[in-house]
Order: sequence, then structure tokens, then C-alpha cells
Amino acid sequence: MIIKVLGSAAGGGFPQWNCNCSNCASARAGEPGFSPRTQSSLAVSANGTDWLLLNASPDLRQQINETPELGAVRSGSLRNTPIKAVVVTNADVDHIAGLINLREQQPLALYGSHRVLSTLAANSIFNVLSKDFVTRSDLPSDERVAVKGADCDLGLTVEAFDVPGKVALFLEDESRGPDFGTQKGDTIGLEITETATGKRFLYIPGCATIDAALAKRLEGAPLVFFDGTLFDDEEMIRQKLSQKTGKRMGHISISGPEGSISSFKNLNVDRKIFIHINNSNPILNDNSEERQAAEAAGWEVSHDGMEVRL
Ligand code: MLT
Ligand code: MN
Ligand code: ZN
Repeated sequence: MIIKVLGSAAGGGFPQWNCNCSNCASARAGEPGFSPRTQSSLAVSANGTDWLLLNASPDLRQQINETPELGAVRSGSLRNTPIKAVVVTNADVDHIAGLINLREQQPLALYGSHRVLSTLAANSIFNVLSKDFVTRSDLPSDERVAVKGADCDLGLTVEAFDVPGKVALFLEDESRGPDFGTQKGDTIGLEITETATGKRFLYIPGCATIDAALAKRLEGAPLVFFDGTLFDDEEMIRQKLSQKTGKRMGHISISGPEGSISSFKNLNVDRKIFIHINNSNPILNDNSEERQAAEAAGWEVSHDGMEVRL
């Protein structure tokens, strides 16, 4: 199984278009140690020819153009694509806006929770993915589903599981209490398994906290791509970028007693990789103390173009 990181940054990307924080300014200036990153997405393939996208970021067109495996094949028919299917893990803009790039009457299979597919169905702009060409299938929680493209079996199964999180930012309803109307299916994680070999990994780009059920699922996993949005809960407030904590945004932090480094300590995960990294996060500076601390704790920091083979 081949896994390619198409985008390793959180919503907004790195640098973010309107952001003059010290990380973004350094990335924009091309300073060494600050690699630009596009928004959160992975591509996965069992055979190296047919690909499954995990999330469709607003940067998808750029990501496809920078990934030769994902371009239309020259020896193929007049309209063709190696991208056969897409799974989305929530309805945030950074994970669904790229679906609009996948129009042009191209057969495609789209998968997501019932809740997220309902959000797409309620927004007519997504009708550019015409039902004549694009199938939409619910992913029930805790069930393995064999992922099929329009004309192929991808040789992969996907199991969705509920993860503590929050409804998409643009659907938040203050009148509905402290969880803003969050419902089951608003945030899912994915376990992807290669059918032929049984090799598997987990992809959890958004997660508010690691509860007992999630800890159980993570225990002993060979590979996990995990929410690396913020290093600490107050970093956006401290940098005067936002009034919001990580908790308020539905994201666990990397550091701290309830953070991901600490929560993963006894879970025996072989390979741990941060993804969905916000531009405020000091781990985006290759030479920061925080980056060293994450690496010393056994974590890797993903970058666009990173490839993992299982
Ligand atoms: C998030 O991960 O919290 C969202 O992508 C925020 C957003 O929509 O910008
Ligand atoms: Mn996001
Ligand atoms: Zn910034």
C-alpha cells in the first residue's frame, strides 16, 4: 500500500493567505526550515495505479498537479483520472471544498458519514458532482467497507469510527449549547486496510480528545496520521491570531497532560505522524524546540509529498 501526503497543513494552509504571524512570514520569505504546506489530504493506493483520496482540500488542483501519479494518463482515454474514490472525514472547508475540483462529468465514488453527506446534499454547489457520474455512499461507523471506484475495486477497505470533535465551523449554532449542535458523524477517523495483505493504518486529522474508545482503537496500531493542529491549547490566543483555544476549535493539542504526546505514550503505536498542522504551530519550524520535543517523543511531522509504503 502506498500512502502519499498531498497536504499536511490545517485549514488555511501554510502560509495562510492573509496571515502575517511569524511562521507564515518566515515561510512566505522562503526562510530555511519553514516548508510551505497545502491543506489536509492523503492519497492511498494498493496497486499504484488507482487512487483513493482521504479528504478533498481546497488545494486539490495544485496537489494533483504536483503528484504525477494523480494526473490524467496520457495513454488513456480523452477524459481519465487515477482518482477513483474520495472519503471525507468531516464537513470542514479544508476537507470538502476540493470536491468542487472533481467536477467535469467524471465517474467517482464519494464516501462519508451520513451526517457529512447530508451537509453536502443540502448545499447545491456540490451538485456539480452530478449524480449521473458520482455515487455517494454512507460510511456507517465501525463497519469495514470495500472501497469501489466506478470501474474498479481499489483493493482497500475503509472502516469509519466516531472521534470526539465538533460540527463544521460554518454549521456551528451557538443557540444549541456548548457543543454548537455537534452530532454523531460530524468527525470520523478512518482505518484503511489493504485487502490483499491486511496491512493497515489510521487517519485521524481532526480529534478533540483521546477517550477510552479511541485509545482502544489506537492501541498497537502500526501507523497513525494524527491531528497536529496546535502545539498548545492557547497558542492562537497568545499570538493574537484568534480568541479561540484548541479545545474550542475541537482540536487536541500536541503538548500538555491531556495532549497527544502524553496520550499516545502507552498505546504502542509503531509510527506516529502529525498532520493537519495549523500555521501557528511551532513544529512547522524545523529548528524549533517544540519540533525537537515532538521528535524526541517519537513523532514525525508530515510534509507535502511525504510517501509511506506499508
Ligand atoms: C478546523 O479544522 O478546525 C477547520 O478546518 C477550521 C476551518 O474551517 O477553518
Ligand atoms: Mn481543518
Ligand atoms: Zn500564520
